[in-house]
Amino acid sequence: MSQTSPASKNITSVSQETRVFEPNGEFSTAAHISSLTQYRRLYNESIRDPEKFWAKQAEQELIWFKPWKKVLQWKVPDAKWFVGGKLNVSHNCLDRHLSTPLANKAAIIWEGEPASPGKPGEERVLTFKQLHREVCLFANVLKRNGARKGDRVLIYLPMVPEAAVAMLACARIGAVHSVVFGGFSAQSVADRIADCGAKLVITADGGFRRGATIQLKKNVDDALVLKDASGKRLAESIERVIVLRRASNDIHIEEGRDVWWHRELEYVDANCPAAHMDSEDPLFILYTSGSTGKPKGIFHTTAGFLLGAKLTSRLVFDLKPDDLYWCTADVGWVTGHSYVVYGPLANGATSLMYEGAPNFPEPDRFWRIVEKYGVTILYTAPTAIRAFMKWGVEWPKKHNLTSLRLLGTVGEPINPEAWMWYHEVIGGGRCPIVDTWWQTETGVIMITPLPGATPTKPGSATLPFFGVVPEVVDDQGKPVPTNSGGKLVIRKPWPSMLRGVWGDPQRFREVYWSEIKGSYFTGDGCRRDKDGYFWIVGRIDDVLNVAGHRIGTAEIESALVSNPNVAEAAVVGRPDELKGQALVAFVTLKTGVKAHPQLREELRQHVAKEIGPVAKPDDIRFAESLPKTRSGKIMRRLLKQIAAGDEIKGDTTTLEDFGVLARLTQGEE
Ligand code: PRX
Repeated sequence: MSQTSPASKNITSVSQETRVFEPNGEFSTAAHISSLTQYRRLYNESIRDPEKFWAKQAEQELIWFKPWKKVLQWKVPDAKWFVGGKLNVSHNCLDRHLSTPLANKAAIIWEGEPASPGKPGEERVLTFKQLHREVCLFANVLKRNGARKGDRVLIYLPMVPEAAVAMLACARIGAVHSVVFGGFSAQSVADRIADCGAKLVITADGGFRRGATIQLKKNVDDALVLKDASGKRLAESIERVIVLRRASNDIHIEEGRDVWWHRELEYVDANCPAAHMDSEDPLFILYTSGSTGKPKGIFHTTAGFLLGAKLTSRLVFDLKPDDLYWCTADVGWVTGHSYVVYGPLANGATSLMYEGAPNFPEPDRFWRIVEKYGVTILYTAPTAIRAFMKWGVEWPKKHNLTSLRLLGTVGEPINPEAWMWYHEVIGGGRCPIVDTWWQTETGVIMITPLPGATPTKPGSATLPFFGVVPEVVDDQGKPVPTNSGGKLVIRKPWPSMLRGVWGDPQRFREVYWSEIKGSYFTGDGCRRDKDGYFWIVGRIDDVLNVAGHRIGTAEIESALVSNPNVAEAAVVGRPDELKGQALVAFVTLKTGVKAHPQLREELRQHVAKEIGPVAKPDDIRFAESLPKTRSGKIMRRLLKQIAAGDEIKGDTTTLEDFGVLARLTQGEE
């Protein structure tokens, strides 16, 4: 694979992109929002009087136990939406459909990972009625095991329907879930438990991935004994571990602490009224990487999040009653929360869940699933699209993909080449593409085309969703001229915005609200063109986006220096054709330690153990020292250029030791 198609090249091609794709006439006629004029009228209404707009939406979209008294209470940076209202997310995703013709419709269609080529994966279908029953049963299991309103519950499961059941069951009783992606390590699980003080863990014996078994329960066992520097057990708040049988691998069951999911079901019934939650009661915490320190627990609350997830799902994906909607994200990421579980189910849509990898057992796995179920809407990541491009058109060509009517992307900028391939090869030239920009923090889609209304330009997320006021500004917060690069901020509060960093209001203010006074700072660089379209360039802080996964350089650096051989480490991103960005670590070793290839692998494994395989550096370069300014700051800009193989540009006058730079560029170890 060549490393010469850097994101910067994509950005150049993005800025030269002139193609415009008008909405498809037939699609528009039947769409929820069917013209640009209609979009603009509604958008203007939504920002002229946001409270009126959102009040109307909240009334129309959600089922309330008790109406709210005030739409918005706002004092930077603290927002309260639908103050005084009472509702329940699981009631809105399930119970509300039971008295309608949707009761026996498929809520979740699940496809398991296939055992071998040619062999179909396992299949399960849960109707709304069945899912409701499963959720009520499991909610009673949670209660039986001590979970109460407000308690935190950590979910560490593979992509099986029980992941959605567990999330909805927490929501039903008012427990706050924190899902941890199955690819994270025991250390990451322990850190998250320590941070949110979780009382229970829900996990499985194991999960399947590309034919291998992931030892989830073993990781939990390891997490529960890990200690911090002072010798205190990180997971001391955990009282119970509920274990789902999935892979039937051998595991240890700790009497008095661990219980089997299926055994617990024997003790409960399916009667579990939904708790009356306040609009602002926390719904979930999701950890995400920032530019400093450990991942932060972004938390979302009940009413605003659900309203955003429901409305964006319906309008951005133009959901119709007969759609078969597939979002390929894992529930461990925010996309899996908003667009696998909560958004589609609240709309009564059928959500397809797939357990495995896109290329296992063969690279046509996705296309096989699209054909098998007649998927109509597919929402995936640019990294996956670039991988499919590399694997070749013969794989999608083997399957009938004519059921597809809409395509979506999320997670990273999509280069126009990948956009065009998606459009032509997967969408057969007829499916609109919605390139959706948003973040864990925003909760739901913020900048996006509406497929029946917005002309699209390959590589642009286009225009803001209703009620969203984004702007591209300079360091002083002043709007930059058309086509100039700047920082992307959101000027006004929106219902599904994060309510904070769990347990750390100070960090919430500093990270998001102090960069540009009075505005939410996204951490992304952006440009706006003459038509007002937004072109996201990527992160401008020390957060990397590797294959659509968000990783902080500081986390990897601290993992590296926790290895006894390492004196100092600096991690930067290098443009990568497939993953968007690859991770390059510059490492200096302790005196007396010699650099050798095995050490490189040892350090990669060390990072996998500390954080998870997603954070393993692609490249480790040993260096005698790292380039620093006189005040001791590592010069990341230079390291980025070195990692990308670029010529060194810009000011190097404050570099402490010019020799360091020369040695690094020569690739000396
Ligand atoms: O840099 C942006 C990029 O992903 C970041 C958010 O990552 P995370 O919180 O993990 O959420 C990913 C799923 C919503 C953003 O700051 N990003 C997300 N979507 C896009 C994008 N960059 C460009 N275009 C997008 N459509």
